[in-house]
Amino acid sequence: MPRDARSSDTTGCVKIDSSTMTPRKTVKATGSAADFIPPRATLATLRAAADGCRGCDLYKHATQTVFSEGPSRARIMIVGEQPGDVEDKTGRPFVGPSGKLFDRALEAAGIDREDLYLTNAVKHFKWARDTRTVRRLHKTPTTGEVRACFPWLEHEIAIVRPAVILCLGAIAAKALLGSAFSVMKQRGAAVDSPWAEAVFATVHPSAVLRAPRGERNKAERMFTDDLRKVARYLARASSQKKRSRKEPRKFSGWQTTPGRSRTSNASTRSSRA
Ligand code: URA
Ligand code: SF4
Repeated sequence: MPRDARSSDTTGCVKIDSSTMTPRKTVKATGSAADFIPPRATLATLRAAADGCRGCDLYKHATQTVFSEGPSRARIMIVGEQPGDVEDKTGRPFVGPSGKLFDRALEAAGIDREDLYLTNAVKHFKWARDTRTVRRLHKTPTTGEVRACFPWLEHEIAIVRPAVILCLGAIAAKALLGSAFSVMKQRGAAVDSPWAEAVFATVHPSAVLRAPRGERNKAERMFTDDLRKVARYLARASSQKKRSRKEPRKFSGWQTTPGRSRTSNASTRSSRA
């Protein structure tokens, strides 16, 4: 069956394909990205290894691994859910409709996209074909797929060591903060965690895009406000850090979480349940 078109069988029924149906690439998935993590990984070697990841079945119908973008010493790491249709085709995170909305909100919040390390909880696009429009529609990854992919994210965090992580949407937030975390209840708040000085979560930009017409502007304003909270947190952290250098006895400076050092090995840290 051609991959990019609907086809009819002899009964005239429309066949639908999806990223979870009969595999195009047939190498059996190993069950975890951990099987593909190179020793003494750098971002460059991680990226190269992620290209060949067969940790779960999602690689089978995706065009390519969408790894990440941004400076290796970024102070803010953005964790989305998974690449979308445009990201799958271009190989870059956040360049489709959600990415465009995200860019607009970043600009309004005074955050430069170039300063961010952008990545996703799941590195391959999971989709199902829309029977009417033939478009590839996003499908939510399962807990098992998020867990299988987590070693990539864990190692990215250990290498970049961002001051702040912002999770976009429940999949990313639960991956880092546990399944009980509620984005709706805890959005925009700095959460204590071993991953960074603070982890924030907000809704996924696609939820803003899907908001009913009358609520769309408000949803975008709230999303932008959450980005501003991250920017303010970092500005405060920086000014406190500067003060601490001038007055070492009055303020002891920013403590990194115990056990987090430049040489820490991601695999020794607790992973998602
Ligand atoms: N949505 C995401 O969560 N990540 C992307 O890279 C694009 C859309
Ligand atoms: Fe590997 Fe993640 Fe892709 Fe699954 S989604 S194949 S674990 S990179």
